Amino acid sequence: MPGIVLVGAQWGDEGKGKVTDLLAERADAVVRFQGGNNAGHTIVRGRQTYKLHLIPSGILHKDTLCVIGNGVVIDPRVLTDELDELRRRRVDTRLLRISANAHLIMPYHMMLDHAGEAKLGKLQIGTTRRGIGPCYADKAARLGIRVQDLLDEKILKKKIVAALEPKRLSLRPFAKDPRLDLQTITEEYLTYGHRLASYIADTVRLVHERLDAGETVVFEGAQGALLDIDHGTYPFVTSSNPVAGAACVGAGVGPKDIDEVWGVIKAYSTRVGAGPFPTELDGELADEIRERGGEYGTTTGRPRRVGWLDLVALRYAARINSLTALAVMKLDVLSGLDRLCVCTRYRSTGPDGAEFEHFPYHQTVLHHATGEYVQLEGWSEDLTECREESELPAAARDYLRFMAEFVGVPVALIGVGPGRDQVIWSGRTGANWLAAAAA
Ligand code: IMP
Repeated sequence: MPGIVLVGAQWGDEGKGKVTDLLAERADAVVRFQGGNNAGHTIVRGRQTYKLHLIPSGILHKDTLCVIGNGVVIDPRVLTDELDELRRRRVDTRLLRISANAHLIMPYHMMLDHAGEAKLGKLQIGTTRRGIGPCYADKAARLGIRVQDLLDEKILKKKIVAALEPKRLSLRPFAKDPRLDLQTITEEYLTYGHRLASYIADTVRLVHERLDAGETVVFEGAQGALLDIDHGTYPFVTSSNPVAGAACVGAGVGPKDIDEVWGVIKAYSTRVGAGPFPTELDGELADEIRERGGEYGTTTGRPRRVGWLDLVALRYAARINSLTALAVMKLDVLSGLDRLCVCTRYRSTGPDGAEFEHFPYHQTVLHHATGEYVQLEGWSEDLTECREESELPAAARDYLRFMAEFVGVPVALIGVGPGRDQVIWSGRTGANWLAAAAA
């Protein structure tokens, strides 16, 4: 039975938390496979809002195994705070498991993230400053500290010394910072180890046991395809692979263990941080969509850049992820706009005015690309009470149809409000999930 991967198919913040929460109702396990607490997943349950950064969104379902896989980078302070908060709100966290092989974000990673951005000045990436890039860099350099190291004081200390050695020069501005003291770091991290010990496990084995038993496992991606370090708008990307293929590496399964790949998108586009954004809007319209959509970062509170739906980028995301279905969130936010633009080609702002049907691989081309649009009719009706596709205004259905046909991927789920019931299950795939959830 299915291994289903859920990924962001834009620049992150598409509403993956809500979709995972809905699929988790039917799933037996939810596995995070990349990224760290640069992610922020918001889930609204009745009057309660949960903001999760590291713990898989499935934690709100009491019988669901929740795994933080080996591909995730973990800031243990954030993780223990998140656990405390969930316990305070009486959420059962006993079924959380953390890969012993996941890497740890250390205090010096955050310092290096800050310092790196400051050094780049105007060219900065606009990272979340959570130490994600430096932590993945240490992993690749084989200088990383892993979750299992928290359980052995001698090894932990030795590895911290080895990791700090080549960073002396770049950490010089922080030389007097008490957070860099070897003993202080070791003690702090041993405390985390003590607190997390009962959750640490061989998560690869656990996930395979579930798959072998025919259970449903949801692999929950963070960020989005266009922030992928290989396939995104490099260097304005995150330091991991938020595409579906990374679920295999970051959770320890093979491609044949994946049956479906859902791409979560918003009915328009947003981006936080710097980097090319061909369909970006500014002025009143951007402000209006930002306010209506509550487009402010869950992790950093930064206002998000806002733009029209970009089908060139979405078709590319569909390819590199092998998307089998789309979950289109926040369709309700577009109500009241007379006309909607959808980008179907790019045009260069350079002197040649070249047109591009495919997502450009070249950074310079991408930086000079603007959207060429097809205009579709808008709708004025409030969508927040719609629960069936047939209840949507014809223009909203046409909008969805246009996107699905252009990208060649069917829509399975439509979001029409923040609440978990404010969704429409659509098409055959959506109907199957709805039926399964009700069973
Ligand atoms: P980092 O992941 O903190 O290194 O940031 C690199 C880039 O990815 C920046 O542009 C961030 O704004 C962006 N980013 C990282 N995580 C998220 C996310 O969860 N949603 C949206 N953008 C993100």
